[in-house]
Amino acid sequence: MTNDQTSPPPAAEPSVPGPTLAEKASLTSGAGDFVTTALPHAGVPAVTLSDGPHGLRLPKEAGDGGQVDLHSAAPATCYPPAVALGSSWDPELAHRVAGALADEATAHGIRVLLGPGINIKRSPLCGRNFEYFSEDPLLTAELGGAMVRGLQESGVGAALKHYAANNQETDRMRVSADIDERPLREIYLRAFERIVRRDRPWSVMSSYNAVNGVTLSENTRLLTGILRGEWGFDGIVMSDWGAVRDRVAALRAGLDLQMPGTQGRTDREVVAAVTDGSLDEAVLDTAVERLVRFARRTADADRPEPRMSVDDHHRLAGEAADRCVVLLKNDDGLLPLSPVAGSVAVIGELARTPRYQGAGSSQVTPTRLDTPLDALRAHADGARVDFAPGYTLPGAEVAGTGSADSPEDDAARAADAVRLAAASDTVVLFLGLSAHDESEGFDRDHIDLPDTQLRLLDSIVAANPRVAVVLSNGGVVRTDPWHRTVPALVEGWLLGQAGGGALARVLFGEVNPSGKLAETVPLRLEDSPSHLSFPGEEGHVRYGEGVFVGYRGYDAASREVAFPFGHGLSYTTFAYSGLRITLEADGARYAVAVTVANTGPRAGREVVQIYSTGPAGSSVARPPRELRGFASVTLAPGESREVVVHVSRDDLAHYSEREGGWRVEGGDHGIEAGSSSRDIRQSAVLPVEGDPSRLTLSGRNTVAEWLAHPVGGPLLMKAFAEGRAAAGGGPSAMENPAIRRFLAGTPLDVIAEFPQSPVRPEEVVALAEQAAVVSGSQER
Ligand code: BGC
Repeated sequence: MTNDQTSPPPAAEPSVPGPTLAEKASLTSGAGDFVTTALPHAGVPAVTLSDGPHGLRLPKEAGDGGQVDLHSAAPATCYPPAVALGSSWDPELAHRVAGALADEATAHGIRVLLGPGINIKRSPLCGRNFEYFSEDPLLTAELGGAMVRGLQESGVGAALKHYAANNQETDRMRVSADIDERPLREIYLRAFERIVRRDRPWSVMSSYNAVNGVTLSENTRLLTGILRGEWGFDGIVMSDWGAVRDRVAALRAGLDLQMPGTQGRTDREVVAAVTDGSLDEAVLDTAVERLVRFARRTADADRPEPRMSVDDHHRLAGEAADRCVVLLKNDDGLLPLSPVAGSVAVIGELARTPRYQGAGSSQVTPTRLDTPLDALRAHADGARVDFAPGYTLPGAEVAGTGSADSPEDDAARAADAVRLAAASDTVVLFLGLSAHDESEGFDRDHIDLPDTQLRLLDSIVAANPRVAVVLSNGGVVRTDPWHRTVPALVEGWLLGQAGGGALARVLFGEVNPSGKLAETVPLRLEDSPSHLSFPGEEGHVRYGEGVFVGYRGYDAASREVAFPFGHGLSYTTFAYSGLRITLEADGARYAVAVTVANTGPRAGREVVQIYSTGPAGSSVARPPRELRGFASVTLAPGESREVVVHVSRDDLAHYSEREGGWRVEGGDHGIEAGSSSRDIRQSAVLPVEGDPSRLTLSGRNTVAEWLAHPVGGPLLMKAFAEGRAAAGGGPSAMENPAIRRFLAGTPLDVIAEFPQSPVRPEEVVALAEQAAVVSGSQER
């Protein structure tokens, strides 16, 4: 019995009207270019957004003359872009940089930063490679994930982008990336999966392109099935800017927020669709719920008081840049330059007019800018430093003259530089790409340095062979064959606003370089695994190389490369010994330990890379080696230390399309510890017990597939033996190696049709049923 009738009626709640249909629709698109819609009476604040991944780009509507100006309105620290940070192999550093980015965001009232960009570098030609970390998904996930944590721990949301398979700029707004399930999962979704599961970004930005014919903003499978269903994503999906074609279809697919706003035009489409019944209001409500949670999450987050000091952040940008420089080559110890090495000729306009970031939506107006030339002069301490520009950069005014350039000027400039080189003890030659060569919005069509620079290089080397080349580039450039003619080569990427100082510190040895390549430098563009299917045609790009992306492909084809993935020299040397592998207590991870000793004359940092090789006889084509973990160690001369890298057992899995999921294959996997992917120092065999097969056997499966199946294999062997016994015994055909090989690839239902077969067609059906029943009961 209840006392309902005797209790006083509850006090009436003051009536707050819920959001109207139109208000709900308005929440699902931006209020402007970089702000979401607020509903103050419903307690929903606006969320302010800003590019970009390596520095704040406070939006400015249009530049002089009405053209869009991609630079930020206010200065912000320009940290090393992802191409450089990728070479640091230092998640802790990425975490700190992201914390500083969050600090600046908070100081400017920005709640969500549009980054990090974690697309895989499928081709060296991609114009936006400077904004991405690596050709490897694990390295990408470790650095990108650290940035997500660094931002969000400081109360600023991340927008993980561009989901998914946005690996080129050519036709980026329409192209369909046609990818088989295995490479999609193992290469292109892997970093997204890892970060979403572990680091829980508050938002994901869906890309412009389509995957397998379905545009991302309407891709239910990727936005809802995989992202939320499989990985448990609990944030919002926002569109890339202008990526939505059909607003109602996008909402249905799981895209919560259209950016930028459309001044209500597409909100009205949503209202109309709900009103005429073509869109279930519950779909809109789900998006609204997520958006409200997102807006409150960003508003309520704990945010430390901004401590922004321009000096501190510039210093951090410099410290980060120190870690990103990669020493590719250093014959006869040409580097470091000794401060009293006599005279140094600094040649190349890029030393005076550095290229330190890429062009496009991530472009920052820096708070200050260090030039390599000034920094080298400041570090020279006794050595004479002279400068000659050698060449001009397209678009850059000819310094000091304000006049147009001519071929004669070009020749005169080069001749001056050659004269200076001949008269100096050592040459530091700055070469690289300009924003005309690479940018967001277009891909390159070759990877060569500009001809004028290559000609200059030849003449300089002829005049003085003691040349250290320093490269500035956002995408890989071809170094072959000229790298063979210079003793030292430094890959400086785009190092952010403080990169000039970092280069000087490395060149003069104040910093011992420790960067390692996060992408392969091929001998020729034509060698790159995606070459024959990049950038596609007629609206489709077929990812024909499958999982063989980057070093996975170069290694599988045994292709010589200029500098391999993971390569980077130091001014000291390291020796590896004592590789040990133990299964950790949780049974889910292996501790891979290796001892590293500093065997050279200077303190230095080594990045230890752990690769795995698939088991022999794997059921899928495997890359010869795949990165499974890494760690770095800093050692004084003579010091040694054991480095432990944790490798997850799950990371040994491949994605089986046939079984519809990840699967660790049983057998002897290999574990390797290397100083690069092609400098493996230690290796060991790791016997692994495989996952049970989820394959549902039928007569269409081959004898080999039956035999490899943990349940089906023994059942089939037993049936074969019984069949033979019933036929009067005699030797099994399987004992003859040639026949065994022949039969191995034959489906069981074909074998059953032959009169000599030990199993009959009806027995095959019964065997398959039995295998399914036993496998099912084992899984339970
Ligand atoms: C880019 C995004 C960027 C957005 C907003 C788009 O064109 O692809 O990376 O965040 O613009 O500027």
